[in-house]
Amino acid sequence: NADRPLRGVSVLVTAGPTREPLDPVRYLGNRSSGRMGYALAEALCERGAQVVLVTGPSALPPPPAVAELVRVETALQMHAEVMRRSPACDIFVATAAVADYRPAAPAGQKIKKSADALTVHLVRNPDILAEVAALPRPPFTLGFAAETHDVETAARGKLRDKRLDMIAANHVGGTVGGFEHSENALLVIWNGGQREWPMMPKVELARALAMLLEERYAARQAA
Ligand code: PMT
Repeated sequence: NADRPLRGVSVLVTAGPTREPLDPVRYLGNRSSGRMGYALAEALCERGAQVVLVTGPSALPPPPAVAELVRVETALQMHAEVMRRSPACDIFVATAAVADYRPAAPAGQKIKKSADALTVHLVRNPDILAEVAALPRPPFTLGFAAETHDVETAARGKLRDKRLDMIAANHVGGTVGGFEHSENALLVIWNGGQREWPMMPKVELARALAMLLEERYAARQAA
């Protein structure tokens, strides 16, 4: 089917930030808006895929064509929802900016202002993408790498260490591109190739990336 090339392919997408509670009022979080992930989910739907979107808090309207929308807040919740669904998916796309650490023991009540300094003990969150890629029969995995410096080296490291099929690297923390902005630029790397897109609207970038993803997925299926 030429105009719905991903028909019958199920894709699990994570998007947005996670929030890690410090107390009932406050959290540790990051600057992801969900734009990149929502645009990619939409682009994959356009290509005929059955998309399940697991999203952290985002102000954006969810893409209307997704088969299932799962809202989560914390990394542990995102981990549980993804691990439950990942054995049934063909492709896993991790655009979420998952907090690497969470407060070890969130306070049950609002923390009062008293001492001049406050120390918060953090513990590691599970690496959702690495766990999916390490499944006995993993789906095709596309990870993202958000870096403030040495973007390509760090992305190649993540591709190798997490044993991914493909990684999309972006520069974050600048005045253009990366999180929150409506534009982004990407360097996509896989074993044996790479492709680079300059700064452009995330919606356009997502369409181009969805097409490449489809190509690489088909190549792995044929191998
Ligand atoms: O949402 P926007 O405002 O549009 O911004 C988009 C974006 C910049 C957030 C997005 O393009 C992006 O780069 N997402 C990945 C952000 C990130 O957390 O990168 P990382 O390099 O820390 O993580 C590497 C990969 O592992 C990512 O695919 C991430 O989803 C995944 N991961 C990380 C930690 C963790 N505990 N579990 C994970 O699955």
